[in-house]
Amino acid sequence: MRLRLLICLATLATSSFSMEREVEITPEISIAYKVLEVFPKGCRVLITCHSPHAPLPITYSLWGSGDTEVAKKTIKTQDPASFSINVTRKSRPDLLTYFCQAAPTRGLRVVSTKLQMYWELWANPVSQVQANFTLLDEGSGPRVEVSCQAFGSPPITYSLIGKNGHVYMQQKPTYGQPANFSFPLTETSDWLQCQAENDISVQSSPLTLVPPGQLPRGPTFMLAGSLTSIAAITSGMLGWTKWTRL
Ligand SMILES: *[C@@H]1O[C@H](CO)[C@@H](O)[C@H](O)[C@H]1NC(C)=O
Ligand SMILES: *[C@@H]1O[C@H](CO)[C@@H](O)[C@H](O)[C@H]1NC(C)=O
Ligand SMILES: *[C@@H]1O[C@H](CO)[C@@H](O)[C@H](O)[C@H]1NC(C)=O
Repeated sequence: MRLRLLICLATLATSSFSMEREVEITPEISIAYKVLEVFPKGCRVLITCHSPHAPLPITYSLWGSGDTEVAKKTIKTQDPASFSINVTRKSRPDLLTYFCQAAPTRGLRVVSTKLQMYWELWANPVSQVQANFTLLDEGSGPRVEVSCQAFGSPPITYSLIGKNGHVYMQQKPTYGQPANFSFPLTETSDWLQCQAENDISVQSSPLTLVPPGQLPRGPTFMLAGSLTSIAAITSGMLGWTKWTRL
């Protein structure tokens, strides 16, 4: 198990508030974090807020989910403000959000974008890989569509790989979304599988033959139900069923 401590930097544009006064500089604020220590139910992280162009002194505040102020600090130099906080797991990973606000004595108050911290705090190995292979023929020639989804966090990178290990396509959808691959059907058939990988583990759907032998005739065919597997140990023609859509 390789659990990496990622350093995640979300540099963000600012929500600038309109003010009548002239602004000489574009205020912006970045938020970044680093995991310092991991506990069974959470971890200690260092959140850094920085608004390098704001006039000094700057009062930085850190806000948590539900718009609650977590901590506050006034900085008289151009240095970033760092907050070391304990973060515990929430019922849903997307509840772990933080943002920074910088309020200079003179000038614009700026707010960072939301930092989502679930990646390290909600580490779960990849499980239940599902790959649906669908053959479509909608005029521009037959195409294969593969939709692939698994559970796990940090977010999963999906790859469509051949029997020889060749990676044809790769996608990293946002957390919880399936990956969708689409490619024209060629004359030659190939064994393909969807591999789902995050920083903790990797799992694959069974190898599936594309196209599955004789091509069906007709406008649209769904060629597979879900192919679920713990790991691609077996290869074989799995679950290609066909039915005509309306
Ligand atoms: C953070 O949590 C750890 C473990 O629960 C605890 O030992 C430590 O004192 C906490 N630190 C703060 C600042 O609350
Ligand atoms: C695969 O198909 C099944 C049955 O239609 C569906 O429940 C599942 O959500 C599909 N999975 C993906 C990743 O599209
Ligand atoms: C794949 O398709 C599904 C359903 O149309 C969509 O919700 C999802 O965001 C798509 N994934 C990507 C990476 O575009």
